[in-house]
Amino acid sequence: MTSKNNGRGLWASRMGFILAASGSAIGLGNVWKFPYITGQNGGGAFVLVYLACIFVIGMPIMLSEFTLGRKTQLNPVGAFKQLAPGSLWNLVGFMGVLAGFLILSFYGVVGGWTLAYIVKSITGSSVHFSSPKEAGEFFGAFIANPGEITLYHFLFMSLCVGVVIKGVHGGIEKACDILMPTLLLILFLLMLRALTLDGAMEGVAFYLKPDFSKITPEVILIALGQAFFSLSLGMGAMLTYGSYLPEDENLISATFYVVLFDTMIALLVGMVIFPAVFAMGMEPAEGPSLVFSVLPAVFSEMPMGNAVSVVFFILLLIAALTSGISLLEVVVAYFIDEKGWPRKKAVLAMGAIIFVIGVPSGLSFGIWSDVKLFGMTFFDHADNIASNYLLPLGGMMTAIFVGYIWGTDSAQSEIERHKTRFHWVKVWAFLIRYVTPIAVALVFLAKFFK
Ligand code: TRP
Repeated sequence: MTSKNNGRGLWASRMGFILAASGSAIGLGNVWKFPYITGQNGGGAFVLVYLACIFVIGMPIMLSEFTLGRKTQLNPVGAFKQLAPGSLWNLVGFMGVLAGFLILSFYGVVGGWTLAYIVKSITGSSVHFSSPKEAGEFFGAFIANPGEITLYHFLFMSLCVGVVIKGVHGGIEKACDILMPTLLLILFLLMLRALTLDGAMEGVAFYLKPDFSKITPEVILIALGQAFFSLSLGMGAMLTYGSYLPEDENLISATFYVVLFDTMIALLVGMVIFPAVFAMGMEPAEGPSLVFSVLPAVFSEMPMGNAVSVVFFILLLIAALTSGISLLEVVVAYFIDEKGWPRKKAVLAMGAIIFVIGVPSGLSFGIWSDVKLFGMTFFDHADNIASNYLLPLGGMMTAIFVGYIWGTDSAQSEIERHKTRFHWVKVWAFLIRYVTPIAVALVFLAKFFK
């Protein structure tokens, strides 16, 4: 451990870092959120806009976050303070910490649903549906039950807290090692099942055939927000993970792999969900409950559906945990580095606060479903504010910072430390300086002045 690192710990291996960063990226965003917002925003055309956002905006920002993190070996607030002392740039870091609070507060609720569905598939209550409608009603009744969802929400947050208390290499790294290959395999099997259902091709068409009339500024903003959300960008999570990196890591290939894995999983999930939705005569625009009503209906149609369901939800839980952990880690790293708190105190206190903030989101599908502001529930607002505003804004500011304040030359020399040659540096610098900030600004403007 280098002294510069202040005993914060480093990743044990190169693959360990790629897996951990992929673990942060891959989660409920891919499996739960991507299909439901694709369903709500018109299918194929949305997917195309999403992919453009991933590669043109997300990928360059991810590289920037890794680079800022490894350069400073600090949390987001500390990183901006170190590179631009005495300026207001650390506010971008603060905004990230805030976004971490907010995202984990509702993410924990959905993590709790996942945990509950492991239990319900073991007991068999969630896999013996005679119709998709029944599966949907079962889920609807479950999320309306305040006691049950709050309990599972609490358990999920406790798991996150348990892992983060141990610190990065003890907890986070190990948790990711087996996850991804297994998740890919089971998704692949589910895709085969979904594609062979009667009427599946209608779903494939919805998912892959773009209908460009569906694209509005609102839809583009949602696709952009989802790109940030899915890649864990715009709030310093990847910056924080980069801060635990040793000097000789190749940041370019790490970025490439993380983006590739994350996007592959999301696209694969779509190929499971949409064929199934259409084959079963369900509604693609159903919203946050989509995946939890479609999949159990698919499991009910499979040999050994019970077992498949248990394994699937266990994998989804691990994927959700490795993402939740990265959200909590940002908040915690801030209190450790900037406020000098011991790790244990920071984790326990922040875990508890985030859980409490999340409770109203959990109740948004039941007893508080009528508590609405501008037609949206607590849950909708938490997600909307964080994903569609804080993250794109944070990403835009990160791009401006790297592009103009810290400078792409300084970033390049950090990226090229230890023999890595960055052949695409001109393309990257162009995207970071011009394309990313302008694209995000235009999307915001179009949305406000529509
Ligand atoms: N990317 C994760 C997912 O898709 C969620 C997540 C983890 C996240 N860390 C983040 C989202 C940081 C935004 C910012 O499930």
